[in-house]
Amino acid sequence: MKNKLEEILKSGTSEIEVLQDLKTLDEVRVKYLGKAGALTQILRGMKDVPAEERREVGSLANSVRETLEKALSEKWAELENAALVAEMEKEKIDITEPSRGVKRGALHPLTRFNNKFMEICVEMGFTVIQGPEIETDYYNFEALNVPKNHPARDMQDSFYITDNILMRTQTSNMQIRAMEKMKPPFKVVCPGRVNRNDSDSSHSPIFNQFEALVIDENIGLKDLMMMIKEILKRLFGEDVKMRVRPSYFPFTEPSIEIDATCQRCQGKGCSLCKGTGFSEVFGAGVVNPKVLEMSGIDSVKYSGFAFGPGIDRSVMVTNKIPNIKYLFRNDLRFLKQMR
Ligand code: PHE
Repeated sequence: MKNKLEEILKSGTSEIEVLQDLKTLDEVRVKYLGKAGALTQILRGMKDVPAEERREVGSLANSVRETLEKALSEKWAELENAALVAEMEKEKIDITEPSRGVKRGALHPLTRFNNKFMEICVEMGFTVIQGPEIETDYYNFEALNVPKNHPARDMQDSFYITDNILMRTQTSNMQIRAMEKMKPPFKVVCPGRVNRNDSDSSHSPIFNQFEALVIDENIGLKDLMMMIKEILKRLFGEDVKMRVRPSYFPFTEPSIEIDATCQRCQGKGCSLCKGTGFSEVFGAGVVNPKVLEMSGIDSVKYSGFAFGPGIDRSVMVTNKIPNIKYLFRNDLRFLKQMR
């Protein structure tokens, strides 16, 4: 018995000693200490040991078990640690490797201008509204006092989807939609994309406008001009100069064109403003009573005015952009310069 135990101790410790992985470690554990293991077998046979030897053999068996258990658990810790080290070795992160860098995004110059203009209008009490880019002939032309075959349609040569539906050529469609829905007095402004069959370095078939409309009692041209002057000051600075020229739009009467200090040369005169120091910013006018009536507003009690700047030209001038198409191409080389 004693010999057997010593043998188990010897072979057990030497087997544990050379273990290389956790799986075989478990096999060795079962082989000696498992239910049918060598040592368990011996402990079971204790009843056959003569009584006088039993104590000695018993304590030897216990110490063999303890020695093997201790060796196993030490080996287990050693292998476990080695596995962790190997894993970390494999997944090593090289913290000295240069990073790819973080690219900073920024708002598109059109969006920046748009936001600035909207902020000014909201400060002045306007409500921002939005409306369809695909529009019926009625809202885009007819209700704006531009009947079929009116020559004013020529200037807005258009993209038609059917005879009666087109890509809106102006945000003025929103004047009509606002008047139909809202109860005067009100002030609305609508930023939006418009489309015309037009294309050269300063014209794009897609461009952006605003439409501002104010409907109230006893308002007219003087209020319109005061408001525009205030907006120009907030947009371009206190020193901005404003020039008013007569114009024609079928939906406003009288109609005017507003020029402001050329933002490229600051009024000194350059090729862009053809030496005048001014550039055109708004089409505007007092709402034609015919248009009010068509949209269900009492033209005796109420009057109104509207103005509609194209914003792409202003963005081009203030950012020295030579071709309007850059604004729509999403070329990263261009956009990076606009930050
Ligand atoms: N919609 C006109 C245009 O596109 C501009 C305008 C807006 C004129 C509002 C008068 C009032 O040219």
